[in-house]
Amino acid sequence: MKLRTIDGIDVRGKYVLLRDDFNVQIVDGKITDAFRIEQSMPTINALRNAGARIAIVAHLGRPKGSRNMEYTLAPVAKYMGVPLIPDCLDKDFMANMHDGDVVLLENVRFYAGEEENDSDFAKRLADGFDLFVNDAFAVSHRAHASTVGVTNFLPSYAGKLLASEIEQLDSVMEKPAHPFVAIVAGSKISTKIGVLRALARIADRLIIGGALGTTFNYATGANVGNSLYEADQKDTALEILEYAKANNCEVLIPLDKGVATEFARDAVRTDKTFDKITDNDIILDAGVLTTARDVDAIKSAATVVWNGTVGMAEWMPTWSAGSFAIARAMAEQTRAGKLKSIVGGGDTVAALEACGVKDDISYVSTGGGAFLEYIEGRELPGIAVLEEK
Ligand code: 3PG
Repeated sequence: MKLRTIDGIDVRGKYVLLRDDFNVQIVDGKITDAFRIEQSMPTINALRNAGARIAIVAHLGRPKGSRNMEYTLAPVAKYMGVPLIPDCLDKDFMANMHDGDVVLLENVRFYAGEEENDSDFAKRLADGFDLFVNDAFAVSHRAHASTVGVTNFLPSYAGKLLASEIEQLDSVMEKPAHPFVAIVAGSKISTKIGVLRALARIADRLIIGGALGTTFNYATGANVGNSLYEADQKDTALEILEYAKANNCEVLIPLDKGVATEFARDAVRTDKTFDKITDNDIILDAGVLTTARDVDAIKSAATVVWNGTVGMAEWMPTWSAGSFAIARAMAEQTRAGKLKSIVGGGDTVAALEACGVKDDISYVSTGGGAFLEYIEGRELPGIAVLEEK
C-alpha cells in the first residue's frame, strides 16, 4: 500500500492538526506504559524541527461524548511537557503559536461528534489548520471525525509511525520468510476469527493458546475443568481447524495446561495433560509440554507473528511462564539474526516489557484492534483516506 507521507512537504509556519494515539494506561494520574507516546515522537520531532505549529488531537478511553475528567489527557500533556488546550474545538491558542510549538488538545471523545464521525464536528475540528497528519495507527480502524472526517477538509498525510506500521505489517503479510509461525492467543474467539483465518492462509504453523486455545481443546473433546472458554464457539473452532487443514497450515493447540483450584495470583500450580484435568481445575497458563513444543516451533521459524498472551502473564512469575518463554525464545532467535519477529496487542507488548525483551523483537506494533484488523486484511478507514491514488 502506498501512502501520502509527510516526507518532503513544506510545513514551516503551517498549522498542523496531528492525530496521535495516546490511549495509554494511566494509574493514579501516572502513565504506566508510555510506548505509544514514545513511538509518536519521531513524527512530532520531525514536524517540530521543520517549523510546523502542531496541535495534537487524541483520545483516552471511552468517555462516550461527555466531558468526564476521569479521561483527561492532562497526564499525557504533563509527561510530554506541552500545554493542554482544555477544549479541542478552541482555536484561541493558535494566535500565540510560533514555528516549532506543540500543544495537546483535550480528549476529542469528550464530543459525541467524534465517534459519530459527524461532518460538522470534523469541520470545526479542522478549522484554522493548514493540513492534517495521521500518526495514530492504533485507532485507524475507527471511522471517526479525527481519523476520517477531517480529511474531507484538509490535505492529509500519514505520519512516520503510521507509515512504518504499514510497511512492516505489509512486508510480513505479503512476503513472509518461511517457515512462518503465527501465535494467536488471548481470551475471545469472536474477536479473532478473521485473524485466525487470515494467518491460516499464509502461515506454515498456527499456534493457538490462552483461553482461545482452551476453546479449541474443548471443541476437540478435552475436559477443560472450570476454566474460561467459549462453549458456544465449538463449531467455529472446528471450522477453523478444517480451514487451516485445507490451507496446509498445521495447527498446534495446547497439549497441557498450568492449572490451579482457585483463580488467584498466588494459587498453587500443577501442570496437567487434559486426561488429568478435573472439574475443579482452572487453567491459568500454558503447560510445560505445550511451552516446550511452542519454543521448538519458534526455533524452527524464519518469521513469527504473535498476538495474545497464553496465560495470566501479569501474575508473575507463576502464571507468566508460558508467555515469557515465548517472548524469550522470539527475542533470542531475533538477536541471533535467525528470525523476523512481529508482536502486536497491549497485553502481549506488556509481557515483552515485563520480561525485558521488547527491544529485541524486530517490530512491535502500537496497534491492538487495528493490528488484528490489518493482519486480517481488512481496510482500515483511517488509512484508506491516506492512500496515494
Ligand atoms: C486502542 O487502544 O486500541 C485504540 O486507541 C482504539 O481504542 P477504542 O477501542 O476505544 O476505539
